[in-house]
Amino acid sequence: MTPMHAHAVLRTVIACSILAGAQMMAVAQGRGAGAKENIAHRGASAYAPEHTLTAYRLAMVQGADYVEQDLAVTKDGVLICLHDDTLERTSDVATVFPDRFSKQLAGTGAGRGPARRYVANDFTLDEIRKLDMGRWFSGKFMGERIVTWDEAIALVRGRPGTGMYPELKSPPFYAARGVDMAKIFVDSVKKHGLERPESLKTTPLIIQSFDEATIRRMATELPTVPRVFLTSEAADVTEARLKEVATFATGVAPEKRVITSQPEMVARAHALKLTVTSWTFTTDEKTNQAAARAEMAHFLNDLGIDALFTNNPDLFPRRQQP
Ligand code: G3P
Ligand code: CA
Repeated sequence: MTPMHAHAVLRTVIACSILAGAQMMAVAQGRGAGAKENIAHRGASAYAPEHTLTAYRLAMVQGADYVEQDLAVTKDGVLICLHDDTLERTSDVATVFPDRFSKQLAGTGAGRGPARRYVANDFTLDEIRKLDMGRWFSGKFMGERIVTWDEAIALVRGRPGTGMYPELKSPPFYAARGVDMAKIFVDSVKKHGLERPESLKTTPLIIQSFDEATIRRMATELPTVPRVFLTSEAADVTEARLKEVATFATGVAPEKRVITSQPEMVARAHALKLTVTSWTFTTDEKTNQAAARAEMAHFLNDLGIDALFTNNPDLFPRRQQP
């Protein structure tokens, strides 16, 4: 076993050994019907590289109710957990496969990113497995590998009570390449039986997307599974628009600034039986841990939202039960 492997195994053992304690703590913290929900955004991504097994395990240790997976599709049609459509931000793809950048997307960073972009869908799973997904975050995480959707399911299902929160990130991007991302996802959910009531009880599942057509499709193809429409648009939380959203989604998830600009939208959505979730709550150079926790408490308790995505699941402010 190489030192790198030893480090990975050690991390696994430590995480597993404290998970049982974390689950007991969650019960003591009073999760139950109607409780506010703590969604680990890309895992515990303030502390470990996003969408790695370490970030997912840590999220569960920290008491997350759900672990989020942003999904992408490899060249050979496998769902992987990756936020971007491309690999260069969170891996060493530019070193391992320097010439495999997209000629189509070259130079489209427009000052917001690197000129060379490596589309995940141009690589097979075997190729992507060669990439280091941790070193960009910190040398401590060198050796982290891509997590497939199947692997994420196995991990989270191993911890009954914790849910999964997949995002169908870019169905139109894949459609333009002749790939039906939603079909691959629906087939996988059915293969694993994740949509069955008995599975939803032990491993809750909520589907999310910014793509309205995809959420509408989920309503038809996976009707038992809750589905949340993500938005950054104030126009999506008007009374009329929320009435429409309620015909195809079970919840709405506006970005924080949309809610602060129209806090009354929470009551409007609740009156239509839509849950309200928001994103993203995190520590950063301007926000320390106390401020992040206070912001979460404000949205949950003062503005009345039901759930939030956070990079810091350990800071989620649970109310003590009487
Ligand atoms: O899915 C909720 C939130 O994660 C949306 O933003 O870009 O982090 O996927 P993003
Ligand atoms: Ca997301």
